[in-house]
Amino acid sequence: MNVLVVGGGGREHALCWGLAASPLVDSLYCAPGNAGIAQDAACVPIAVDDTVGLIAFCREKKIGFVVVGPDNPLVDGLVDRLEEAGIHAFGPSARAAVLEGSKAFTKELCARHGIPTATFVRVRDIEQARKHIARATLPLVVKADGLALGKGVHIATTREEALRVCGEMLDGSLGAAGKEVVLEEFLTGEELSYFALVHGEQVLPLAAAQDHKKVGDGDVGPNTGGMGAYSPPPLLTPELEKRILAEIVQPTARAMVAEDRKYVGVLYAGLMIVNGAPKLIEYNARFGDPEAQVLIPRLKSDLLTLLMAAREGVLHKVNARWHDQASLCVVMATKGYPGSYAKGSVIEGLDEAAKSPDVTIFHAGTTKQEGVWKANGGRVLGVTALGKDVADAQAKAYAAVDRIRWPEGFCRRDIGWRALGTRRGAP
Ligand code: AMP
Ligand code: GLY
Repeated sequence: MNVLVVGGGGREHALCWGLAASPLVDSLYCAPGNAGIAQDAACVPIAVDDTVGLIAFCREKKIGFVVVGPDNPLVDGLVDRLEEAGIHAFGPSARAAVLEGSKAFTKELCARHGIPTATFVRVRDIEQARKHIARATLPLVVKADGLALGKGVHIATTREEALRVCGEMLDGSLGAAGKEVVLEEFLTGEELSYFALVHGEQVLPLAAAQDHKKVGDGDVGPNTGGMGAYSPPPLLTPELEKRILAEIVQPTARAMVAEDRKYVGVLYAGLMIVNGAPKLIEYNARFGDPEAQVLIPRLKSDLLTLLMAAREGVLHKVNARWHDQASLCVVMATKGYPGSYAKGSVIEGLDEAAKSPDVTIFHAGTTKQEGVWKANGGRVLGVTALGKDVADAQAKAYAAVDRIRWPEGFCRRDIGWRALGTRRGAP
């Protein structure tokens, strides 16, 4: 079967890497991909929002299955358009992707169906906001309703700050995403990303990972798309996983069916574990990035078979089997990220760094010109290693990082610190 992956970041590289290993795949394409992805799939310069171009390409290449990586095309209905054109595609419809596309929708869904989450109010104008903020407990979490490229969440420690940020969002600082704002209770605990494949009420548990959203060591500085991850997190005991499924994932899958928004795809629950109890922070309608870069290398089962089973509604017929090893991914980014940064700096040493069979380097944003790798984005590489435990995976990942010569790049040195019980990073 010919397969197309839509997207061009580290997550899509991990998906292509996993799919390239499938005996069921004849030709693998990625739109638009990047120079690193081109090592595993044929990249085609079609943008993720070029629905007409993607459908034409699928027809030309007789694509039997499309895997949509990023949130925006899902929320915009790419899977609906592909399926209408008779092209099988993995991912939720626009009606179901609203779980990621509207935080207010998800909060209301949780309220209607008793799914544990932070308490909240929705506000559409500054007067409403002022009233709530005057009596809210601090800190207060201020969230734009819609997709905002990771910039839509602000944790305000004073009422003035909450009111200011909320006012800016309502005034259009984030475009349409902020025309409605959710003000919610601040939860204290440990964060966990949990993944399951879903088709209607069928749920196939996958695995969990922990991301590191802040840019700096010790979880300081601004939020990013994710600076590194590891899996499995020791925090996820079998009891906790049971609760996540019974209290959050399964009720959500049932609720979506009951509300005529049947969910098909991977459901990524961003959770806060508060005194041992899981609470939903947010849903994403796709794999996480960098989480996909640690989950897919641990997967022993055939990735395409699982994704196809999710689309077809036969999740009871498949199993997700995992390697015993742990995996850990260190994201390397261009200095300046998540603020402004320059493009085009030269990266050397990638081949030596990837020499160990336990190490895979996923590319989030690179180009290759006359044999020379260059950075082409904020997050650029995901250096991933498998090891006998998180400590071993961490040591191998940082050993690979240290072989990469890229003076304009940086990474956190403490990925995995929660699992290892120390804020001191790798050797
Ligand atoms: P989100 O984009 O919703 O994942 O939020 C980004 C980050 O903000 C999360 O990963 C959390 O670290 C933090 N956050 C969001 N909502 C809450 C909350 N209710 N309580 C505490 N932290 C939160
Ligand atoms: N790792 C965070 C995300 O994919 O949204």
